[in-house]
Amino acid sequence: MNLVRICDACTQEEVNKVMDAAKVAQKAWARTPLWKRAELLHKAAAILKEHKTPIAECLVKEIAKPAKDAVSEVVRSGDLVSYTAEEGVRILGEGKLLVSDSFPGNERNKYCLSSKVPLGVVLAIPPFNYPVNLAVSKIGPALIAGNSLVLKPPTQGAVAALHMVHCFHLAGFPKGLISCVTGKGSEIGDFLTMHPGVNCISFTGGDTGIAISKKAGMVPLQMELGGKDACIVLEDADLDLVAANIVKGGFSYSGQRCTAVKVVLIMEAVADTVVEKVNAKLAKLKVGPPEDDSDITPVVTESSANFIEGLVMDAKEKGATFCQEYRREGNLIWPLLLDHVRPDMRIAWEEPFGPVLPVIRINSVEEGIHHCNASNFGLQGCVFTRDINKAIMISDAMESGTVQINSAPARGPDHFPFQGLKDSGIGSQGITNSINMMTKVKSTVINLPSPSYTMG
Ligand code: G3H
Repeated sequence: MNLVRICDACTQEEVNKVMDAAKVAQKAWARTPLWKRAELLHKAAAILKEHKTPIAECLVKEIAKPAKDAVSEVVRSGDLVSYTAEEGVRILGEGKLLVSDSFPGNERNKYCLSSKVPLGVVLAIPPFNYPVNLAVSKIGPALIAGNSLVLKPPTQGAVAALHMVHCFHLAGFPKGLISCVTGKGSEIGDFLTMHPGVNCISFTGGDTGIAISKKAGMVPLQMELGGKDACIVLEDADLDLVAANIVKGGFSYSGQRCTAVKVVLIMEAVADTVVEKVNAKLAKLKVGPPEDDSDITPVVTESSANFIEGLVMDAKEKGATFCQEYRREGNLIWPLLLDHVRPDMRIAWEEPFGPVLPVIRINSVEEGIHHCNASNFGLQGCVFTRDINKAIMISDAMESGTVQINSAPARGPDHFPFQGLKDSGIGSQGITNSINMMTKVKSTVINLPSPSYTMG
């Protein structure tokens, strides 16, 4: 199956034109009342949901997302845009009044009025696995805050993203305010991210983000760059719940999620039972094309499949136990649980972004925390135990942006804060945090000729 759709690749000259138009459109947009911006976002959300079927069809064809998940991605995106409109009205409609006499040596003769103002042009770069949802998670906050937006969609997923942007245009957003720049990251990536017209970059993807952050200059950055999310399982956990979450967390969308469970760290005493339960569930997963709503579908590119295979073969050579036979046809890889993985295997540390999951047996909680914290990544993690006190202590000890107690890692609900530590990213996402990140604070100070105390 060829998952690549060809879109026109923009030239640098075309990028310049888009940036100029975005700059002009933003000036007028920043003068558009907040309620009006929210109204247009609500309209776009409704149109997006009306178009869920054709957009989902693009997701199925372009990125082999299972049909049901593809529809959910579009509906979730509509909800995200509506929530963003409401949240924006709440948080951007408020500013601060500070008075000077709280700081030593001052009388009350200065009033500081501060409010949040737009940054200008936001460059949004979402990844292939959520070309619609991770695009609108950047578009919505940027627009409600009064910014214009230039979207560089992923190569795989570009058609779905273009269709989504068209929904915003149908809603009546002014010309030039939201534009799409298609093309290969390797060709126009640097030109875009180092463009002097860009005032903010929101990027989700792999370690390209680290390179972007080094080149970007003095603009605010929001980056989510993947994870090696650990699932720590204690002896007292509900083992059926654990097995269900390992399968859902590790194998949904064939493991191609930043927040997928990417390593299971399980107490030896319960490992056999959990491995058996997980294997029973894996045997029931449907493997095949996305149109048939299969659970496991082809991974996005041949090079991804080759990379996954490299990790699997390295583990095999070093003695991991394969719970299933390793099977691959083209980009389609059958789900595989690798037991008895040890720290000298690449798969213990690297992110496969595929339907293969390592299990490391541990003899103490400390061992599990140590493995988790030795990773370069720190996006999410999870811990399974019935002891909430232990769970909180483990969560505090794990160097991850979020720790889920008794559930697999996940970004949503989309208004929750979402952030990575270490190489997993910069800044925090989630609707509220993204709106705040795409603004700056502007103050005006009123200086009175003499101090004035209310009711004084
Ligand atoms: O792939 C990265 C996404 O942010 C993960 O989102 O947890 O909703 O699958 P998700």
